[in-house]
Amino acid sequence: MSEPILKAEHLGITFGGLKAVSDFNMTINKGELVGLIGPNGAGKTTVFNLLTGVYQPTEGAFYLDGKKMNGKKTYQVVRAGIARTFQNIRLFKQMTVEENVLVAFNESFTYKMGGAIFRTPRFWKQENDMHAKAIDLLHIFGLEGLANTEAANLPYGAQRKLEIARALATGMKLLLLDEPAAGMNPTETEDLLNCINTIRDRFGIAILLIEHDMSLVMNVCQRIQVLDYGRTIASGLPEEIANNPQVISAYLGADDDTESEEAN
Ligand SMILES: Nc1ncnc2c1ncn2[C@@H]1O[C@H](COP(=O)(O)OP(=O)(O)O)[C@@H](O)[C@H]1O
Ligand SMILES: [Mg+2]
Repeated sequence: MSEPILKAEHLGITFGGLKAVSDFNMTINKGELVGLIGPNGAGKTTVFNLLTGVYQPTEGAFYLDGKKMNGKKTYQVVRAGIARTFQNIRLFKQMTVEENVLVAFNESFTYKMGGAIFRTPRFWKQENDMHAKAIDLLHIFGLEGLANTEAANLPYGAQRKLEIARALATGMKLLLLDEPAAGMNPTETEDLLNCINTIRDRFGIAILLIEHDMSLVMNVCQRIQVLDYGRTIASGLPEEIANNPQVISAYLGADDDTESEEAN
């Protein structure tokens, strides 16, 4: 058995007195798409912040491909192979669609500065390779026709897709998607989910997908883990999760719970 891409063991973090995430355990293998769901404030984004070195865990550990990642800075985590998208889109708005992907290509395409200054044949070859690879990636998302459009001028759904294309360009092993369908209409959402499935098949990477809307992840994820108040209340196959009474009450009771929490 090869190492799982991601292994989190008893991961947790406390802010002041609040345990935002506690005893978080998760294993994701190559080619798996796992959903992380839960009501607002459950701790989903905090899990991503832990896995990307934005926050350091106060408990537990996590491993990428068998390598311990605790204590690593965000840039080190990215270099090791974890990429994420954000709940709020972050693109280089004034750059074109293709340029947004190009800037994300890293080590594999570095060429000597000399080549860049004197425009050697090697430089031009790499420029062409990068362009071809960028277009190839954009093609998966149906964005190749918009390669020269400024990112700011893309429709919302296309901006979301570009954000994922750019994350893929970093050549990562684990892709973290934080509510990628937020604000999308049903057609854009379905299109996006198809893209996510395609990239999982095509790149054989591991994907962890955060979603607030439970019905959305049911169709695409092989396994689902449910957080509520920072704790895992269920994990299993989509159909097991859909019929789990604790999960149903966490979702249905979310509003009442928020009120009583605020009253405390
Ligand atoms: N930097 C922080 N400082 C204090 N509390 C935080 C911080 N980040 C998150 N939290 C708290 O942790 C809990 C989980 O938040 P979050 O992970 O954003 O939830 P979700 O993404 O599931 O909606 C919330 O109660 C939130 O207020
Ligand atoms: Mg969140």
